Amino acid sequence: MLSLQHLVSIEDLSTEQVMALLERGLLFKNDQATFSLDSQTFVANLFFENSTRTHKSFEVAEKKLGMDVIDFHADSSSVTKGETLYDTILTMDALGVDVCVIRHPAVDYYKEMIESPSLSVAIINGGDGSGQHPSQCLLDLMTIYEEFGYFQGLKICIAGDITHSRVAKSNMQMLTRLGAQVYFAGPKEWYSEEFEDYGQHVELDAILPDLDVLMLLRVQHERHDGQTSFSKESYHQLFGLTQDRYQKLKSSAIIMHPAPVNRDVEIADALVEAEKSRIVKQMSNGVFVRMAILEAVLNGRQKKR
Ligand code: CP
Repeated sequence: MLSLQHLVSIEDLSTEQVMALLERGLLFKNDQATFSLDSQTFVANLFFENSTRTHKSFEVAEKKLGMDVIDFHADSSSVTKGETLYDTILTMDALGVDVCVIRHPAVDYYKEMIESPSLSVAIINGGDGSGQHPSQCLLDLMTIYEEFGYFQGLKICIAGDITHSRVAKSNMQMLTRLGAQVYFAGPKEWYSEEFEDYGQHVELDAILPDLDVLMLLRVQHERHDGQTSFSKESYHQLFGLTQDRYQKLKSSAIIMHPAPVNRDVEIADALVEAEKSRIVKQMSNGVFVRMAILEAVLNGRQKKR
């Protein structure tokens, strides 16, 4: 049975651990996995950036596993009085919380916590700024694995706001490790040196007919400091999935997007739930892969005792 101390970055997982989490997520999805807690177990979801999918699918996963979920809202907590993130986690640890799922705008916020000798709480990263989003990566991998049954040789294009996307970073690292051929598309100025080891920048129209997976990304207006050089309409026409581009995809290709979606920007409104779209499936798979992550982290805590 897989056990993890924390899950903060996808790169910390071995390929075997990734595959074990995907297989376990699929078992949870197909009602073929059982899990029972041997003692009361508390989890706190600490979201310092807004979230619908990550926050609520962790909560559903936690409740399905029988965990006690602690409610936390940063804006009604002592964070407003200057409490640091470390002190919030120290408090949760002192209260007997077993697992903290954290989303925070600071890249690598978790390093201080996992390196602290005073803390024993397990940390699951629900997204750190433009750093990592390991649970999103795992649910994306689960969706691709469910569709194709393998990763080796799949042609996958990550298209859009790669600069600001933690989803792009986690996915490019693990997809290339698993043998997929990764490409990047979207405004060329958003492609920088950090992507070169993982895949080349391509024109979406040129690569579309060859793709197995088109992974669209949200334009993260909130991280652009008002500097976005494209109107929504021009972005959609130049880089988005229009009806014309959809027709160029091969019959077996799928479309993904971590959501939330800017409709008619990254993807035409009518295509969000189109036949090739797996966007809703990604959200559903999030619950099951997060059950597998939580289970592995709880196994890790049992080992420590
Ligand atoms: N995909 C994702 O992280 O969505 P939320 O911001 O709604 O959690």
